[in-house]
Amino acid sequence: MDSVTLRSLYLNFFKDRGHAVIQGASLIPENDPTVLFTTAGMHPLVPYLCGEKHPQGTRLTDVQKCVRTGDIDEVGDNTHCTFFEMLGNWSLGDYFKKEAISWSYEFLTEVLKIDPNRLAVSVFGGDETAPRDEEAASIWKKCGIAADRIFYLPKKNNWWGPAGQTGPCGTDTEMFIDTGKPKCSDECSPACDCGKYIEIWNDVFMQYNKQADGSFAPLAQKNVDTGMGLERTLCILNGYKSVYETDLFRNAIVKLEELSSKKYGETEETTKAMRIIADHIRTSTMLLGDQKGVTPSNVDQGYVLRRLIRRSVRFGRLIELPEGALSEVAKVYIEQYKDIYPEINENAEKIITELEKEVARFSSVLQQGLKEFEKVISYLPVKRLSGKTAFKLYDTYGFPIEMTVELAKEIGYEVDVEGYKKAFEEHQQKSHAGAEQRFKGGLQDNTVEVTRLHTATHLMNAALRTIVDENIRQKGSNITAERLRFDFNLDRPLTPEEIKKIEDYVNGAIQAKADVVCREMTVAEAKAMGAIGVFDSKYGEKVKVYSIGDYSTEICGGPHAANTGELGTFRIVKEQSSSAGVRRIKAVLEYKG
Ligand code: ALA
Repeated sequence: MDSVTLRSLYLNFFKDRGHAVIQGASLIPENDPTVLFTTAGMHPLVPYLCGEKHPQGTRLTDVQKCVRTGDIDEVGDNTHCTFFEMLGNWSLGDYFKKEAISWSYEFLTEVLKIDPNRLAVSVFGGDETAPRDEEAASIWKKCGIAADRIFYLPKKNNWWGPAGQTGPCGTDTEMFIDTGKPKCSDECSPACDCGKYIEIWNDVFMQYNKQADGSFAPLAQKNVDTGMGLERTLCILNGYKSVYETDLFRNAIVKLEELSSKKYGETEETTKAMRIIADHIRTSTMLLGDQKGVTPSNVDQGYVLRRLIRRSVRFGRLIELPEGALSEVAKVYIEQYKDIYPEINENAEKIITELEKEVARFSSVLQQGLKEFEKVISYLPVKRLSGKTAFKLYDTYGFPIEMTVELAKEIGYEVDVEGYKKAFEEHQQKSHAGAEQRFKGGLQDNTVEVTRLHTATHLMNAALRTIVDENIRQKGSNITAERLRFDFNLDRPLTPEEIKKIEDYVNGAIQAKADVVCREMTVAEAKAMGAIGVFDSKYGEKVKVYSIGDYSTEICGGPHAANTGELGTFRIVKEQSSSAGVRRIKAVLEYKG
């Protein structure tokens, strides 16, 4: 089976069961300070899992682009990818365990024709937060899963979420393919990683909201959130050994063979290098071509992208790729994904230009950097690279610290990463400190503070377009309880006069005590009434439009303050460059007394 067939079988199956097929979201999460990327299908749906009404109803299904970089070093083995697509279906306070499990079983056995005797499932074993899930187990039995194929596992295995530090989560039931390998021990279960069981789907029963203090409060409604990895499922259905044999990677690997005159599978080294490049260039293509596309930089998502491209350049050298080869691979992916993700096609030129720029930047110093690395290694008395050397490799030759660690590891050396960080801070550069910072905040923070800052963001967006330039568009937004941060396109700094005028505009709107009104309408209607916002939904789809008096009309998921009178005094605390052609504003709302 190929990827096109699997995507459509899945969506149609759930469409036939009353689910609206919605458009997947951007890889860059909106208003979520705790994570860099969309990591699961549920991620863009968090407000709706928390009780906000979704304009498409209570049963949804989609394919969501996801990036997970936690295991970036594992890429090259049979299963790990930094980008993957997640097939998912959701009940927003609609159906619960019975339907979710029965449909999962039906889809696996009747649509995908997996022999029920090859399936195994796990359910939650029970603890102080939630009881043992006998209900899920009994539904599985009714479907036809034998009792000895149902495993009760603890929270570590059968609890999913939240996606960040706080937010919706719950017990889950996971589905596995039994590869037929013998049990590794009497205790062998899907919890063990001996390779007998391979996870293929996860049904999460989301009924809790994890709070900042670590406790679990009940959500307003009981939801179902499911996720099936496209790459892995294709691999299993076709009986392949690795995801790199699926049609999703095949063309890229063939291109790499052509360009390098080496054969995939020929040696372990070549296979690994080709897999790493195929994975990293696919993810880079998706990030560069995303509707909220990022470019390589030293902070946040841009830093991850930089690492992916630079790592590809390094592994490209190992298989002697000629100049321009990585762009050729990116072109393969653009062609392959352009119908599924139109943004990839729209941004095709940008993908290639930005990729080429970053490759050129790094290729010119890589050779010298490697020489420097070898020189230092040759006279080191111990097998440990100092933080200062690692910093020099970063600062002068553009080696991401992770690459230096990897190079060192390959020859049995360590790197003083702490020392590197110190050297880094001393040089007062910010690099991915920003990324680490993000993981400290709280997720799905619907506190009053965040809600008000969200409304202030809309007002400021309107002010920018009214006062500075009507072509200004939001390029990113991040709100914490303390401040809003907003990125927008402009190729020069704002003047102090403009900043003052923007503040006055927003404060004027606050003093006017304007009502914030939410209306649901089709994208076409929203466009007709001049709403701004990300139009990444289909034209006929219903979306929420928030209007703030006559000041602002914007497509947005909410939530917002009810009236601008609640907002306090708006003040811009910083205006700076974010990346080429993009400015960043940080602003606060201040309350007297
Ligand atoms: N959100 C669940 C997962 O990612 C379905 O596994």
